[in-house]
Amino acid sequence: YDSVERVLDAFRAGEPVLIHDFDDREGEVDIVYPAGSVAPRDVARMRNDAGGLVCVALPDDVAEALSLPFIDEVLTHPAASSHDLAYDSRSSFSFTVNHRESFTGITDRDRAMTISRLAPVAEATRQGDYDVVDFGNEFRAPGHVHLLRGAPNLLDDRQGHTELGLALADEADIPPAVVVCEMLDDESGAALPKTAARDYASRHDFAFVDGDRLLEALR
Ligand code: 5RP
Ligand code: ZN
Ligand code: CA
Ligand code: ZN
Repeated sequence: YDSVERVLDAFRAGEPVLIHDFDDREGEVDIVYPAGSVAPRDVARMRNDAGGLVCVALPDDVAEALSLPFIDEVLTHPAASSHDLAYDSRSSFSFTVNHRESFTGITDRDRAMTISRLAPVAEATRQGDYDVVDFGNEFRAPGHVHLLRGAPNLLDDRQGHTELGLALADEADIPPAVVVCEMLDDESGAALPKTAARDYASRHDFAFVDGDRLLEALR
């Protein structure tokens, strides 16, 4: 696997990296971008090459300041009543948003706008210069970009792609907002095997890293 330094350099340069979590967790590879560097062509890459759900992870302190809840904590529907995920104790999902300047919200242009604005928004929120009212003026819900909320102590609490990506952003000293999208196999429909994801990474000159190595370096 690539060194964590290479992964951090890629992130600082605004390039995507591939992150495999753990064989005993999801066992999935996500393509992960710093949210601020996402352009329409990057959304196209996520839906065409990755094929999973396009989500933006924000850290707990930013989500708290912006009143972005864990969605299962606010839903009263029976479907949200018990937490029986097979691979973790809980999900990191919050709700979905669109930038208010988007039209339908799903196009590459619309999603890139929603996603890329979340980076300066996260940064400004951390600095106390942006709040829930500003957020409501700039974004509408429901939308077409899933928000994820990181665990309060990131990797000490939870080791999902949500926390792996956010810990990487902190270490790279870039705004705390990252996009994640699962790599799926077009043939089988299953998660893209790790070896195939590695091949994809080397074909595109993207860094590839796994959870164990990130935990060692970032925790
Ligand atoms: C959202 C997901 C993905 O697995 C994503 O990687 C975030 O989740 P987690 O932090 O649980 O890995 O389910 O599409
Ligand atoms: Zn998942
Ligand atoms: Ca595809
Ligand atoms: Zn994941």
